[in-house]
Amino acid sequence: MQPSDRVRDDVREFTPYAPGLSMEEIKEKYNLTRVIKLASNENPLGASPLVKRVLGRKADMVFRYPRAGNPALTAALAAYHNVPQDCVVAGNGSDEIIDLLVRVTCRPGVDNVVAFAPCFSIYVQQTRLCGVALRQPTLGPDFTFDLPALAGACDEHTSLVFLTNPDNPSGHAVPAEEILALARSLPQKALLVVDEAYAEFAEPAERYSMLARFGECGNVVVLRTFSKLYGLAGLRLGFGVMPAWLADYLLRVRLPFSVNLLAEAAGLAALEDADFIGASLVTVRRGRTRLAEALAGFGCRVYPSQANFLMFKPPYPAAEVFEGLLRRGIIVRALKSYGLPDLLRVSIGNDEENEAFLAAFKDILDHAN
Ligand SMILES: Cc1ncc(COP(=O)(O)O)c(C=O)c1O
Repeated sequence: MQPSDRVRDDVREFTPYAPGLSMEEIKEKYNLTRVIKLASNENPLGASPLVKRVLGRKADMVFRYPRAGNPALTAALAAYHNVPQDCVVAGNGSDEIIDLLVRVTCRPGVDNVVAFAPCFSIYVQQTRLCGVALRQPTLGPDFTFDLPALAGACDEHTSLVFLTNPDNPSGHAVPAEEILALARSLPQKALLVVDEAYAEFAEPAERYSMLARFGECGNVVVLRTFSKLYGLAGLRLGFGVMPAWLADYLLRVRLPFSVNLLAEAAGLAALEDADFIGASLVTVRRGRTRLAEALAGFGCRVYPSQANFLMFKPPYPAAEVFEGLLRRGIIVRALKSYGLPDLLRVSIGNDEENEAFLAAFKDILDHAN
């Protein structure tokens, strides 16, 4: 018997999630002392000082289990976003909420999920792992959302429709009004999952986010994460806001302690550190304008972005620019795994990181000429 005979067919063909390259591997490979990572859309200011203090104090408590269901955190999130507490489910990153939604709502071999191609790869991975068909209409021209095509791909067996707003990797976003209209046009069973991992960076965020309006439609789920604006990617914390009946089912099957004690404490502190959140937003929005203008000046095609990253087509082959940046100690994201080999994505860094990225980019262009 082969080892592969012992695993499910769905699993045998799996390739793992392709994360951004790590700083350690690039340091070693290119013999560099300093590496700047602009590949995973993390917070350019690092972690909040308040969060770090709270984590230090909480260290003594890690021998205890957290409270199942994380009621202190869900109460704080409900108050912060003005939604009912029984509609909030916290997860080990919003990845966990995506996984739970698929497993709770989709019958393998019967139901289907709809998402644009390309899309965030966790939607693809988790539906495949569950043996659920994924229907993928293509995005409109220039990465716009063809919402009628998304609705048109649904039928009476569609359980979930994923829409990332602002989108990853393009940064394109549509106003909440258009999403509400989409939600109302879906077949009765389908739930619209609006992944707002980058919503806070939009300008103005309220125009694009469905969070304040989620109660207007009974079939909408909104996903948020602490990995981006709140600077907690390494602790793994995200949440979903959804109809109370659905939240109840997710909590029945969620592993009881998937949001750990430190992640919960950090999330509570992060919500309180308004200064850090404000400074992070100012840094990202300022950096986004600076990088977009400079990259366009270098002859790149830069796609308009409401997120904390920019997608662009460099004037030379993307693979060469990517490699040239790595050699100069800058990690950006190649988009081959999204099926976009001509494009690159750069996360907005702090002012110093942005200037280092632009200097490296200019150096590559100077050497190519
Ligand atoms: C669109 C989108 N959704 C969800 C996530 C996952 O977030 P988390 O770190 O909370 O699992 C990401 C992370 O890159 C993302 O880009």
